[in-house]
Amino acid sequence: MRRIAVLTAGADSPGQNAAIRAVARNAFQHNYEVMGVKNGFKGLLHEDIFIMDSGTVSGILPLGGTILGTSVGNPFQEKEKIETLKQILHKFSITALVVIGGFSYMKIASQLDKEDIPLVAIPATIDNDIPFTDKTIGFTSAIEFVAHSLDRLHSTASSHHRVFLVEVMGGGTGWIGLMGGLSGGADLILIPEKTYTLEQIYEHIESRQSNGKEFSIIVACEEVMPPMENHTYSSKKCDIINYLYDNICSNCSFEVRKLVLGHLQRGGAPSVSDRILATQLGVEAVEMLKRGEVGKMSSIYQGKLCGIDLNKIEERKKVDFELLDIAKLFY
Ligand code: F6P
Repeated sequence: MRRIAVLTAGADSPGQNAAIRAVARNAFQHNYEVMGVKNGFKGLLHEDIFIMDSGTVSGILPLGGTILGTSVGNPFQEKEKIETLKQILHKFSITALVVIGGFSYMKIASQLDKEDIPLVAIPATIDNDIPFTDKTIGFTSAIEFVAHSLDRLHSTASSHHRVFLVEVMGGGTGWIGLMGGLSGGADLILIPEKTYTLEQIYEHIESRQSNGKEFSIIVACEEVMPPMENHTYSSKKCDIINYLYDNICSNCSFEVRKLVLGHLQRGGAPSVSDRILATQLGVEAVEMLKRGEVGKMSSIYQGKLCGIDLNKIEERKKVDFELLDIAKLFY
């Protein structure tokens, strides 16, 4: 009997449960035994492992978060933890790991692959920043939430002729801001891949006003750089929105409101497309193991289901600037 272990690592994302379910169900179909690892790599190193059966994954398709729990950080920066991991895999007769997580965890999977630990990986993060994937599991759920939030803000912003500053997640890349902003009709999108001046922002709001648009919805990604020299901005997340708010309030006559969408973007049920993506990638991960293809990430890339060598994952995937140009048409 071959035995695999599945874990979720790093930030959760909607659709991870659908991926766990797909891995388990396809594995059972092919007579693998499946162990669930609680709380990511840290749980694995604590041998927090249990045998899964079809009941474990029953009813989890529409659930947000991860039934396995998760943890952040890379415990394998300490070399001896890799030896501990190998011993644990041997002790539990685990022949391969399935690692579900975001960019940093694809890198950890790659690190473990280089240490001859048999594994496959599944890209799951709301940030959509993993290269060689069209979309990561959780991304469409997050941008749907952003779009629906902007829809709601439009009615109140237009009624009160206000400027709304909306901070979105995404880490160091602007995918959530760009695609959430594009689909929610944002009037300006500030992404970390670009730099801005406060003057550009004021002028933009003013030119909208002079064109008869008496409200503006500005989407700012959480890691946008402060748009001015001599600023008092600290790199702590969530400060960008306060920085913009203070400056726009003190330099412009507009009435301004701010909000941080925060972890609401990551919580809740997965979108239909995330459920489908997670199911495809989870099933494919087991197919890769059946074929003996370890050291790969299950992916849909350029429209095709495929396995990507984990050692190809180096930099985070940058936003599509052509889409930013399209978004600008509607500013
Ligand atoms: O990677 C997913 C993500 O939600 C990022 O968009 C965000 O920067 C980060 O995680 C927030 O992490 P935490 O839940 O630790 O605040």
